[in-house]
Amino acid sequence: MPRTARRLAGFTESVIRGMTRLANRHGAINLSQGFPDFDPPEALLSALERATRGPHHQYAVTWGAPRFRQALAGKVRRFTGLDLDPDRHFVVTCGSTEAMMASMMAVCDPGDKVVVFSPFYENYAADAILSGAEPIYVHLRAPDFSYDPAELARAFAQGPKAIIVCNPSNPCGKVFTRAELLEILALAEKHDAFVITDEPYEHIVYRPGEHVHCASLPGAFERTITCNSLSKTYSITGWRLGYVQAAPAVIEQVRKVHDFLTVGAAAPLQEAAVAGLELPGSYYEGLLASYAAKRDLFLDVLARTGLTCTVPQGAYYTLLDVSPLGFRTDTEAAEWLIREVGVAGVPGSSFFREPEHRYVRFHFAKKEETLRAAGEKLTRIASR
Ligand SMILES: Cc1ncc(COP(=O)(O)O)c(C=O)c1O
Repeated sequence: MPRTARRLAGFTESVIRGMTRLANRHGAINLSQGFPDFDPPEALLSALERATRGPHHQYAVTWGAPRFRQALAGKVRRFTGLDLDPDRHFVVTCGSTEAMMASMMAVCDPGDKVVVFSPFYENYAADAILSGAEPIYVHLRAPDFSYDPAELARAFAQGPKAIIVCNPSNPCGKVFTRAELLEILALAEKHDAFVITDEPYEHIVYRPGEHVHCASLPGAFERTITCNSLSKTYSITGWRLGYVQAAPAVIEQVRKVHDFLTVGAAAPLQEAAVAGLELPGSYYEGLLASYAAKRDLFLDVLARTGLTCTVPQGAYYTLLDVSPLGFRTDTEAAEWLIREVGVAGVPGSSFFREPEHRYVRFHFAKKEETLRAAGEKLTRIASR
């Protein structure tokens, strides 16, 4: 058999999705892959029913259905103050996953460097390899996951093409402050680099924190490429809807990559999702209140195990320090948790560049009853 591509040797299949398969095999409560077990808003469900009977069953415009892009521009204006052109500033993609891959391929040539904070969302390493870029890692240090400005400056001094900023961060829940984003932007300007942000959890930032939309900071728009998604905001991870938002010159290039990668996101789902983009402010307040309650409940559950965990400022993940359990690796701990305790998480090492084997990551985007059921099972940890 001929050999397959060498570039794929640098990464494995997603560890997160592998844990989901293991959880299913053992009937464990799945707190590994971050998706809700509750329904999307009713407005979206009824819009989806209507969309199935409408004229939306063929290819939409490749960079996004016009009605969807108009609604998107309206929502971005409402939340960020940016007055963007639906025809020139957006490409609608199959989730933020494609948005990031298409952005990386649009800006990176083979051999270019890209700054990535560690811990990082596991896709970024694969995105870098597939676009031929080489990551330079900058450490985020527990417990607050701050970075060392000198280390960041040294990374920029290596002349990267871009920096990836996941805000709020999966897996560590860090929310970048305005001052941090301004510092990153100043370095990007000095070294003429793009800032690629990944913001699918923009509406899940716990008080008193606030989400600062990097592209709306003074002078930021031209070099900021925003990757975003409807997956988490409207609890529709299976609809695969996301977008890239950037300056027209960048969007023109992203459109080309996107066109040949996927042609476009599903037309009927874009039509139905307009109902989500038009939801009032109270929807987003409700979403945040519900995640704040889930966070409190789940952190309480974890505290009862006798172990410690990170307290997220945003998004819906926490890293549980499993080192006192005495396993050789976090992978062994995660497999034990699935098999013997019945709750699935993700070995934390898959998010870190440095050899960090202390953590298992859990998410809490689940009904309160699911979190309570997981809590009952997790109490078994205390007796190990
Ligand atoms: C930081 C981050 N980016 C992107 C994604 C993927 O989102 P999408 O469903 O829009 O592809 C996720 C999903 O967990 C994520 O956590």
